[in-house]
This record gives sequence, structure tokens and C-alpha cells, in this order.
Amino acid sequence: MVASVYLIGLFIIGAVFGEDDRPKLRVYHGSLEKYTELPFDEADHITVLPSFNTSQMTTLFCHGFTGHPNGPAVTAVIQAYLDQGQSNVILLNWDRLAAALNNQISSSYLNRAVPNAIKVGAYLADVLLSLSAVGLDLNKTHLVGHSLGAHIVGIAGNKMAGKGVRLPWITGLDPAGVVFDSKRPEERLNPESAAYVDVIHSDPSKYGSRRNLGKVDYWPNFRTVGPVVQPGCDNRPYPRFTPGDLCNHNKCWQYLIDSMKYPGTVIGTFARNYRTWKNYSKQQRLDTVLELGKRHEDYVPGNYYLLTSPSSPYGLGENGL
Ligand SMILES: *[C@@H]1O[C@H](CO)[C@@H](O)[C@H](O)[C@H]1NC(C)=O
Ligand SMILES: *[C@@H]1O[C@H](CO)[C@@H](O)[C@H](O)[C@H]1NC(C)=O
Ligand SMILES: *[C@@H]1O[C@H](CO)[C@@H](O)[C@H](O)[C@H]1NC(C)=O
Repeated sequence: MVASVYLIGLFIIGAVFGEDDRPKLRVYHGSLEKYTELPFDEADHITVLPSFNTSQMTTLFCHGFTGHPNGPAVTAVIQAYLDQGQSNVILLNWDRLAAALNNQISSSYLNRAVPNAIKVGAYLADVLLSLSAVGLDLNKTHLVGHSLGAHIVGIAGNKMAGKGVRLPWITGLDPAGVVFDSKRPEERLNPESAAYVDVIHSDPSKYGSRRNLGKVDYWPNFRTVGPVVQPGCDNRPYPRFTPGDLCNHNKCWQYLIDSMKYPGTVIGTFARNYRTWKNYSKQQRLDTVLELGKRHEDYVPGNYYLLTSPSSPYGLGENGL
């Protein structure tokens, strides 16, 4: 009964987004090249796919503005989860709704991608609820989103929480700051979007949020004087949305990937704020340490600071604290 109500909601999705623009779930069968892609309104076929193991964890990654299935963030993050081999791996592909039209970056973001993202987030909640009726274990489902995608998964978590279903874990990768920094918590990723919300802020001076959005917020290479520039990036005036311009904004997922590839190396120290951390002795820096990329049960909520290397492996272990 409950499931059929959600499904009726899903049938109108083609009307909301246009038939060709419908958001899709892409389920990978062990490699980037092998997958099944289904529009949201047919997504409940996913759990019967032979490669889908309903006893396992499920990781769903959502790309951001101008993202697409063959882009650098999606291919790298999906490959990392496939290599890890511990979960069903799904991409939320909303590339058409996220595109920059006619190279109009600002207006495509503000007038198209942002309103689309808000709708996609709300629909994702319904899709996940209907999937749970056909075998997806929501208690084993981890949502990961980059930039605008972080707010999509946050909005989905908020809507599900409003229906009494709290997801265990949402990870925000440099959640978009523009537009969302001025929104109320229920309209964006926030610490209550899931039972555990962790956020990696790699570009708080430009495309990423400056706010605390998680139960745990990691601030790699943060500083308060001048813009935050990740090692390996620079602050030259690149044309907008070229790789140089996006260097800081893309470091977040590179740090996440290295936290999976090199366990124990990407760690941060808890501090009330950056000034406090700067002032810590070596011993104080080792007192309250948390490993990035993991779901923690026992942790001190708040800000975590760390330094990284300019190239992979990024994690410096205790030397980065
Ligand atoms: C499904 O996942 C569970 C838990 O990881 C594992 O024990 C089981 O062998 C898997 N089943 C198949 C068919 O791979
Ligand atoms: C998730 O687990 C909690 C207890 O840990 C349980 O109360 C809840 O019903 C579970 N939710 C789903 C969707 O399985
Ligand atoms: C810096 O550390 C010293 C010695 O531990 C302490 O007295 C001082 O209050 C600290 N300052 C800040 C801003 O945390």
C-alpha cells in the first residue's frame, strides 16, 4: 500500500522533467563500462538485477553542476567504490538537468541547475522509499554527493527523515555554497539530514560552502588569512569551470578516494575553530583524531583540521595534523 502510493508519485516524473531529461539511476556491474541505467520511475527494477546484492551496503553517488557519467568526479569516485568491493554502487545521473546551456555558467546554475537539483532531491527520497519496499536496505545505504549533488542527497535525507525514515550516512563533498549558504537547514544538507553526516570542505573560498553542514566537518588546508588554496592548486585567474579553476573544488573527492585507498592516512584533529587548532601543541593535535571517509559511531561533533600533500597519496597521517 505504502509502496504503491510512492509509485503513483513517480509516474508523473516524466511530466515534471521532460521525458529525455528524467534523472536516472545507473547501477554498475563491477566495472565502469558495465551498468544498467533506469529512469527514476523505473528504478524499482534495480533490486532484482543479478549483480545487486540486497544484503550488502549500497553506495549512491550524485554528481554536481555540469557533472556527467564520464566526467572526472564520477569516474574516479565510482571506480574507487567498485575497487573497494564492499557495496552495490549506483550513480544518480542527472546530467541533462545539471548542464550549463550555451556556456552560460551563472544563469544555467541559478535558473536551471539549482531548481532542478531541489526537485531531484525530493524525488530521490520517494525513489529510495519505493526501492526499500522491493528490498533495498535503507539502513545500509550511504549517499554521497559532490557540490550541488551534496544538497540533492541532503534534501532527500531531509524529506525521508520527515517521513520517519532516517538514513544512516550522508557524505557531502564540498557542498555548493552559492545559493545554499543562505538557505534554511531543511532546504539543504544539514547535520540532521542523516544519522551521521560528514562533509569535506576543499573550496570554502569559492565554489564550496563556508558553513558547518555536517555532524563532522573536515577542513583540509584551511586558513583564515587569504583564500583557501589546496596544495597542488594555485590561485591564478583561470577561465571559469576549467580544470585550474575547479582544482580546489575537486580536491574533496580526491581526498575521499585516498582515504579508501590508503586507510589511516587521511586524518584530522578536532578543534573548536581554526585559530584554536593552529595554537595546539603536537600532543593536543593527537588528542582527538578522526579518520576521513569512515562512518564513526563514537566521535566529537564539530570541525576537524588537517594538511595534505600536493599529490596522491594526499594523506600525511599524523604529520598532517
Ligand atoms: C551478498 O552479500 C553478503 C554480505 O556481504 C554476502 O555474505 C553474500 O555472499 C553475498 N551474496 C552473493 C550472491 O554474492
Ligand atoms: C533501521 O534500523 C532501526 C534500528 O536500528 C530500525 O528501527 C528501523 O526500522 C530500520 N529501518 C529500516 C528502513 O529498515
Ligand atoms: C594558545 O595556547 C596557549 C597555551 O596553551 C593558551 O594559553 C592560549 O589561550 C591559546 N590561545 C588560543 C587563541 O587558543
